[in-house]
Amino acid sequence: MKVVKIVVPPDKSISHRAIMLASISEGTTCIKNLLMGDDCLRTIEAFRAMGVKIDIRGIDTIVHGVGMQGLKRPKQPLYLGNSGTTMRILPGILSGQDFRVVLKGDRSLSGRPMQRIVEPLRKMGVRIKGQGKKEIYPPLEIHGGNLKPIRYRSRVASAQVKSCVLLAGLFAEGSTRVSEPVKSRDHTERILKIFGCRLKVKGCTVSLKGPARLKSPRVIKIPADISSAAFFMVAGCILPRTKIIIKDVGLNPTRTGIVDILRRMGGDIRIKNKRLKGKDCEPMGDIIVASSRLKGIEISPLEVIRAIDEVPIIMVAAASAKGPSVIKGVGELRIKETDRIKSMVRNLRKMGGEIDVRSDVLRVRGGSNLHGTRVSSYGDHRTAMSMLIAGLVSKGRVSVTGLDCINKSFPGFLENFTLLSLTKT
Ligand code: S3P
Repeated sequence: MKVVKIVVPPDKSISHRAIMLASISEGTTCIKNLLMGDDCLRTIEAFRAMGVKIDIRGIDTIVHGVGMQGLKRPKQPLYLGNSGTTMRILPGILSGQDFRVVLKGDRSLSGRPMQRIVEPLRKMGVRIKGQGKKEIYPPLEIHGGNLKPIRYRSRVASAQVKSCVLLAGLFAEGSTRVSEPVKSRDHTERILKIFGCRLKVKGCTVSLKGPARLKSPRVIKIPADISSAAFFMVAGCILPRTKIIIKDVGLNPTRTGIVDILRRMGGDIRIKNKRLKGKDCEPMGDIIVASSRLKGIEISPLEVIRAIDEVPIIMVAAASAKGPSVIKGVGELRIKETDRIKSMVRNLRKMGGEIDVRSDVLRVRGGSNLHGTRVSSYGDHRTAMSMLIAGLVSKGRVSVTGLDCINKSFPGFLENFTLLSLTKT
C-alpha cells in the first residue's frame, strides 16, 4: 500500500470573500492561508486599484480595510482575467460606491452570462450596463450609489447571485432579502457574521439590514479547498493499493456533496479531526481515502448543487466505476469557464468512455477501459485536472494540452500529481 500526503491549496470561494470583506471593513485583517491562485490575485489587484493597501507576507495577507465608503475610483477599468466569482460578486460592493467603474475579463469571462446579477442590481436602482441584448456579458459598467433594498427571488441556486445581492444590501437603507430555490454554498453568510454583520437565515432565504458597517475580526484562517481535494479523493478511490491523506480541508456542509457521492459509490473515505476553532472561518478536518471498488449510482440535481464544481471529476469516477451512472441537473455546467459537459464528454469519449447527454442529464456507462490519447483542457482548470487524473487509470499515456489554467485554483497541482503518477504501471 502506497501512502501519499497531498497538500491542497486554500479555498478559492472563501479567499475571494475574505479579501472583499477585509477591504471594506474597519481595521486591519490578517488573512491566514489565502489562495494565491490567478483569480484571487485579480481580486487583490482590483482592491489595490481602488486604494486598499494589501501586503502579502508568506502565508499571511494583511489587508488594511478602508470602511464601507473608503474605496477610491480606479483610474482604469478593472481587469478580472478569468475570474467569474469576482465578476459576479464584486458588483455588489461597487453598487454601493459613488463612482463609475468598468469591469473587464478575458475571452472566456467575456462570454459568461451576467443577466443573473444585473437584474437584481437594476431593481435596487443601480445603473449597470453590459454587452448584448437577450443575455448580458462583460465588460460591465457600474455606476453605484443610492441603493434601494429588495426582496429578490433568484431563479437559479447560485451563491454568486445571492452574494452579490447581499453585499449590495449592506449599502441599502432597510432590509434586503434573497431567496433561492435550493440552498447554495453559504460562505458569504458565514463570513459576513465573522465581520460583525447580523443577518437572518431561514431555509433558503437570507436577509440583512443596511446600511451596515463591517468590523475586522483581526485574524481569520482559510481551510483547504474541498473542490481541489476532490481530484485526489477520486484518485485515491480509483488507483490500486493507494491511501491518500489530505489535511485541513474545508467541510462546510454546502460543499461536501463530493464526500457523500463518492461514499455512495462505495468509496472508502474517512474524515478525522473535524473542528472549528478560534480563528478558523469554517469547519475543517482531515480526509483519508483508500483504494475502493466504485460502483455506478444515480446522482440527483440536489446533490449536484452541493458538488457543482466536482461534476467533471465525478464523471471520471463514474467512467471507471462498475455499472452505469446517471447525473441529473447538470445544466449550469454549460456556463462555467468552458462548457464543461462538452469538454469532458469529448475528452472522455476520445479515451474510449461511453457517455450519453440528453438536455441536462448525463449517462456514463462505467467499467470503461480508458485508453491513452491527446486531449485538451479547453482552457478550463477543472477539465485539465480531471483529465490528468483519468490518465492515471488509462491504458497508455494521456497528454493534456493547455495546463496553465490550473493556476487559477490549484497552484502546486502538478507537484502533487507527480507523487501519484510515479506509481502508474
Ligand atoms: C462560487 C459559486 C459557484 C461555483 C463557483 C464559485 C462562489 O457558482 O461554481 O466556482 O464562490 O460563489 P454559482 O454561484 O454560479 O453556482
